[in-house]
Amino acid sequence: MSPLLEVSGLMKSYPLRRNMFGKVVERSQVSKDVSFTLNRGETLGIVGESGAGKSTIGRQALRLIEPDAGSVTFDGADVLSMNSRELRVFRRRAQMIFQDPYSSLDPHMSIRDAVGEPITIHQDVSARERDEKVRVLLERVGLREDQLLKYPREFSGGQLQRIAIARALTLDPEFIVCDEPVAALDVSIQAQVLNLLLDLQQERGLAYIFISHDLSLVRYLAHRVAVMYQGEIVEIGTSEELFENPQHPYTQKLVSAIPHPRSRCSPDALAGAVAMSSAEDLSC
Ligand SMILES: Nc1ncnc2c1ncn2[C@@H]1O[C@H](COP(=O)(O)OP(=O)(O)OP(=O)(O)O)[C@@H](O)[C@H]1O
Ligand SMILES: [Mg+2]
Repeated sequence: MSPLLEVSGLMKSYPLRRNMFGKVVERSQVSKDVSFTLNRGETLGIVGESGAGKSTIGRQALRLIEPDAGSVTFDGADVLSMNSRELRVFRRRAQMIFQDPYSSLDPHMSIRDAVGEPITIHQDVSARERDEKVRVLLERVGLREDQLLKYPREFSGGQLQRIAIARALTLDPEFIVCDEPVAALDVSIQAQVLNLLLDLQQERGLAYIFISHDLSLVRYLAHRVAVMYQGEIVEIGTSEELFENPQHPYTQKLVSAIPHPRSRCSPDALAGAVAMSSAEDLSC
């Protein structure tokens, strides 16, 4: 079966230095010939140090950033040449979850309205149908019915990330870029949110790009892992291959920092991984 997403030869640079006439004389290359595929229902982890270009790749895959060169193909369609109507359909099928759930929710909207907003924008359904879908979704991510009319400030970080996940699911996407989705959360609730993402993947056949600094979490969540270093994917392989037999010196350095290699992925093991990564300094 052909991959759901195929990214090929992505390049992106930003102006670094200009001369006295304002002409750019140096650029920083933040994506260097990045290529990978993602299958339906699969999780690709992207790891690498801060500034390696992980978020840039996630955003380019969703065309939230336009690459300078390369191609992005989603379910056989060329994303970079989509017109606005095609892009609208693509934006239903491909979503993003950010590190900071506070900034991804409008503080002036009740969570029922925030989660229902994508339906209002994209689908022609009655308010009643919309609210019912939102109720079911919010219940699925662990919120109670009596919380639906509350505002973001009334929730904890973990609850807000659950709400952001519900919002990402309202249009029944097939693909979600999760950019450090638990990095801002208390360690005690990270495993709950990660298990929710895993359960939803099972239920809905979702494909994830899971971006993280934390190799021990990626090991538990991802089927395959791409290691980024200075804008390049230096190694990509199944989690097992990569963790058992890392080839690139940078990957070897990352892997050697993980205390106890274990296999993917029971809820208990995941909780263990979260606890372990907080106990050790695994910053890449
Ligand atoms: N709009 C921009 N203008 C200039 N440089 C940018 C811009 N966006 C990103 N960069 C640079 O691109 C590089 C990659 O950024 P990116 O956010 O993708 O890294 P990252 O791997 O996600 O880092 P982190 O782990 O800190 O989130 C960084 O050096 C960053 O400063
Ligand atoms: Mg980032």
